[in-house]
Amino acid sequence: MSDYRTLALVGAGGKMGMRIGANLARSDYTVHYCENAPAGRERLAAEGREASEIHDVIAACDLVILAVPDIALADVSRDLVPRMRSGATLLTLDPAAAYANVLHQRDDIQYAVAHPCHPSVFLERRTDAEYADAFGGAAATQSVAAAFDDGSEADKDALEPVVRVMYGPVDTVHWVTVTQLAYLEPTLVETVTCMLGTFMKEALDETVERTGMPRPAAEAMLYGHIQIALAVAFKSTNPFSDACMIAMDYGRDAIIKDDWKKIFDQGELDKVIARMLKIGRVNRPQAE
Ligand SMILES: NC(=O)c1ccc[n+]([C@@H]2O[C@H](COP(=O)([O-])OP(=O)(O)OC[C@H]3O[C@@H](n4cnc5c(N)ncnc54)[C@H](O)[C@@H]3O)[C@@H](O)[C@H]2O)c1
Repeated sequence: MSDYRTLALVGAGGKMGMRIGANLARSDYTVHYCENAPAGRERLAAEGREASEIHDVIAACDLVILAVPDIALADVSRDLVPRMRSGATLLTLDPAAAYANVLHQRDDIQYAVAHPCHPSVFLERRTDAEYADAFGGAAATQSVAAAFDDGSEADKDALEPVVRVMYGPVDTVHWVTVTQLAYLEPTLVETVTCMLGTFMKEALDETVERTGMPRPAAEAMLYGHIQIALAVAFKSTNPFSDACMIAMDYGRDAIIKDDWKKIFDQGELDKVIARMLKIGRVNRPQAE
């Protein structure tokens, strides 16, 4: 595909659809906003975006963006891919369905995935709008991790401007493979990082409950130490103190299982993705 002009955004009234749609609406692309739920259509109407019926517009689209729940992607792609025009591209927003091979396949359709990285914890934010934009896609700059396994470098170059608009402001689009993207999400950022975020919240609640101290005292101590722990671990701003390292060793022994890195075994990735998609097993040739 050399140039994308006409786009369909399916699931345009959902969480990602509303974010992406707001950015696409300010672009020069011709965008058809498609949404099947009445509540989603109301959200679109409230923002002044007119809903289209996907079956009426899909044959005219160069790019079909599926912003629908991952567990719906097999059914939605089975309905829509046969109606796409030859040479068009199907873009999903999460690697799970592409990795598990549940997207309806056609030889003359290309398949890509683009996932927002969200603004970095190390981003130098300057404005109130940037500080307020934790998710990205509004004011704070973020990167995007994307995969286009059956696309050439020229195909990636053609798709990248659309991705930059969808998730803008964007500094870098990192092109990786679908499998690498699946190791980023879920393994690195959901299995590990989001889990640790909720784990820290649980530790905060436990601290307050066990000691009876005022919650703001525990919050102040935790939030400052999240910042310094990340700065030291990732940016080597200064070393952890000797006593801190002893406490860290105790924590690792008490909390982390010795074999935790098995989450990077591809069989484990297959299992977690099958669980996310609510399917028996992923349809990968070597999958267990
Ligand atoms: N929510 C996030 O933080 C986030 C972040 C990155 C990527 N994603 C990915 O974005 C995609 C969408 O997730 P979401 O959280 O926005 O989901 P969502 O549930 O908020 O929205 C999905 C929308 O799709 C609509 N829909 C469902 N079936 C449809 C169909 N056949 N035709 C038209 N519309 C249909 C639903 O009514 C809903 O409005 C998923 O692939 C998800 O993994 C989500």
